[in-house]
Amino acid sequence: MQDRGTPLHVAVIMDGNGRWAKKRLLPRTVGHGAGMKAMIALAKRAKERGVKYFTVYALSSENLSRPKDELEGLFNLIREYFTKNLKELYESNSAVKIIGDISALPQDCAAVLEDSQKNSPKDADFTIIFAVNYGSRPEIIRAVNTAVERGEKVDVNSFSSLLYTDGVPDPDLVIRTGGEVRLSNFLLWQAAYAELYFTDVLFPDFTPKKLDKALDEYARRDRRFGKIKTI
Ligand code: IPE
Ligand code: IPE
Ligand code: MG
Repeated sequence: MQDRGTPLHVAVIMDGNGRWAKKRLLPRTVGHGAGMKAMIALAKRAKERGVKYFTVYALSSENLSRPKDELEGLFNLIREYFTKNLKELYESNSAVKIIGDISALPQDCAAVLEDSQKNSPKDADFTIIFAVNYGSRPEIIRAVNTAVERGEKVDVNSFSSLLYTDGVPDPDLVIRTGGEVRLSNFLLWQAAYAELYFTDVLFPDFTPKKLDKALDEYARRDRRFGKIKTI
């Protein structure tokens, strides 16, 4: 059973890799590599803490307009991550899910992402969700167009099932590192009642201990969902 103080779904806007590298006079891509290491450690910690869904914002639809060399560095990290980590993920009964329009990525990258999802264990007890070329607005427009094509009226539940996140519970906690206090087109529909946690820590420095701090704060929040406090 999920303890009430533990979020079922944590989503992270992994921001600050570029600034982390700049502070060290290193190329931005080195910052993204350090961010990937941090993300791997955080996913493990989230699982240990009883989180069942862990979403990471890896690349926004807007990020696709970054310089070609930075994008190539990010695509290389995707290739590296899935080559090195998939076996361990599957063996620990974790599944991978991809959200976003991966058809715009280099073909081999898209294939790696597609396969990682397809070959995931079906009875997984932890799911890591990668948001890649993801933006809430394109996701919502895509869902609207699907409903229109089908000639269907939607309600909140049927609309949710047309989103990339179909089958995934809404995030309980959205964390953003890197100091900016905004959502940058991330899970706008799904995060309607999420608790938000912002920290100035740059993503590569966001250690499992710092995740623990965010989870502890989450446990102290009073989620009322529009109701009146009962205790
Ligand atoms: C976030 O880090 C990761 C991606 C957007 C891929 P940034 O690259 O935005 O880092 P900053 O914000 O420039 O420090
Ligand atoms: C949000 O970070 C996207 C990811 C972390 C993948 P950005 O750095 O792209 O966001 P803005 O431009 O500061 O809003
Ligand atoms: Mg940024």
